[in-house]
Formats: sequence, C-alpha cells, structure tokens
Amino acid sequence: MSEKFSPPAAQLPTDKELVLKVIPMPADTNGNGDIFGGWVMAQVDLAGSVLPARHIQGRMATVAVNEFIFKQPVRVGDILSFYAAVTRIGNTSVTVEVEVFAERFATQGQFVKVTEARLTYVAIDAQGRPRPVPKPAAPLAG
Ligand SMILES: CC(C)(COP(=O)(O)OP(=O)(O)OC[C@H]1O[C@@H](n2cnc3c(N)ncnc32)[C@H](O)[C@@H]1OP(=O)(O)O)[C@@H](O)C(=O)NCCC(=O)NCCS
Repeated sequence: MSEKFSPPAAQLPTDKELVLKVIPMPADTNGNGDIFGGWVMAQVDLAGSVLPARHIQGRMATVAVNEFIFKQPVRVGDILSFYAAVTRIGNTSVTVEVEVFAERFATQGQFVKVTEARLTYVAIDAQGRPRPVPKPAAPLAG
C-alpha cells in the first residue's frame, strides 16, 4: 500500500476556544475507509452551537452552513479537536467559525487541520420564530 500524503503539522488557534473533542469510530466511515463527511458536518454543527448557546440563552436552530471546507481526510482513531469563535452577533442570529484539527493515531501531539467552517444559528421562540439575541448585562466569554 502507498504512503498517505502528510501535510505539515499545524499550530492550534490562539483566538478560538476548544469546544469539543471526539474520536471517530469504524461505524462512521465511507467507502474509502475515511470518515464520512456527513458525520464530520454533524460534529461541526454541534461544536459550532456551543458559543452561540451562551449568547442565545434558550432554543436555537442552525439557519445556514455558510462555508464548509474538508481540507484533509479524517481517519478512524484520530482525536479531533474543535475550536470555535463568534464572528458576528446580529439581531436574531450568531455566526461562528469552527476549525477542526486531527491528532493522528500514531502521531499524538501533532495537529493537522482537517476542516474549517462558518455557521449561523438563530435564536427562536416557542413557536420556532426568530427572536432577538438577549443583550448580556456583562461581557460573555467567547
Ligand atoms: C431559523 C429560522 C427560524 C429563521 O427564520 P427566517 O424567517 O428565515 O428568519 P429571518 O429571515 O428573519 O433570518 C433570521 C436571522 O438569520 C439570518 N440568516 C438567514 N439566512 C441566513 C444565511 N443564509 N446566512 C446567514 N444568516 C442568515 C438573518 O440574517 C437573520 O439574522 P439577524 O436577525 O441577526 O440579522 C427558519 O429559517 C427555520 O426554522 N429554519 C429551519 C431550521 C432548522 O431546521 N435547522 C436544522 C436543525 S437545527
């Protein structure tokens, strides 16, 4: 079997917060034996919601995946670290950027950027209609 392409190790972001770590399992693979893109998207959607939840304080829904780039394949056994930062707080919505880094099974401590994405979440009321994002009394982290 040929050697797989290895990009140079990446630096972890200092302007984003670690919001999730997860390890994909064999059940999450596609026909190539790599991890299914839809599984990665689901994890990014969950990770992306963590910081908006602090601002929205209640029900919310993902309104848009504004950008999603699969930069490198994700493999079974990778330790995935999801870093996020809020980039915009609108009237009813919060937008975040998410970067995902993999520590490969045999090279723990070295990080490869595998995915980057930008998503928007909307604060919704009990009827599922947009509602204003509450204005915090004091600044929130993230
Ligand atoms: C989320 C939802 C309630 C928004 O309702 P809507 O009538 O489209 O709302 P609006 O057009 O008033 O937009 C609401 C906010 O979303 C933003 N928005 C809408 N489409 C967007 C897009 N493509 N990209 C970025 N932001 C977007 C608007 O700018 C607005 O933000 P602001 O008030 O901060 O300016 C509705 O679209 C919905 O229920 N969608 C389904 C959600 C869902 O099932 N998600 C998957 C599971 S969580």
